[in-house]
Amino acid sequence: MAIIRLIMSWEESTKQKMLHLKLPTDPRWVNIAEMNIEDILVDHAYCEQKAASSCISLIVNFYDFREVVEVLTPVVAEEWGHFERVMEHLKQRGYAFGKPRKDEYVIKLAEYLKKGGSRAQQLTEYLLMNALIEARSCERFKLLSNHIADEELKKFYYELMISEAGHYVNFIELARKIYDMDKVNARWKEWLAYEAEVLKNLEIRGDRMH
Ligand SMILES: [Fe+2]
Ligand SMILES: [Fe+2]
Repeated sequence: MAIIRLIMSWEESTKQKMLHLKLPTDPRWVNIAEMNIEDILVDHAYCEQKAASSCISLIVNFYDFREVVEVLTPVVAEEWGHFERVMEHLKQRGYAFGKPRKDEYVIKLAEYLKKGGSRAQQLTEYLLMNALIEARSCERFKLLSNHIADEELKKFYYELMISEAGHYVNFIELARKIYDMDKVNARWKEWLAYEAEVLKNLEIRGDRMH
């Protein structure tokens, strides 16, 4: 229900009220992304790989948090399924899979991870960072789905928008379960403000998902 409510509210909203993102993506991004769709697909494939890898790392490093293992195990499979589907879109269009690109967005977000504290606090930091990446990806998939001409990709991005919104909910809800809810909410606001600053200072590139 939480996911459906999220999507419905978001569909009605022009300001990402439910995702709470502080800065909408520059509208120029989707136009240049469409002109560089091969690069976008390659970068996107790596985003899905990193999403799967990140969930695997959380499961391995926080094996003692039962809910994290239970919730994230199926997310790994979903993210890897997304990776396979992006690879299929590349193949259908005769595009080659390229080497991994430097992910400035994620590098900048990782700099904000608070070190130290309890294991629950450390885990919360990772969960919030992942929630943020899911929220931003969701916003970008919505833009792609609404604006690009390729009908197949339009549908694909719409589907991914819904799936990544679900992951956003997974990460936020996990953080609120494993750590103090008020502290999680306060830290989430800080992460949102930081992400907006990161985005504002990133070059708009048509060959990157973020
Ligand atoms: Fe995904
Ligand atoms: Fe995701």
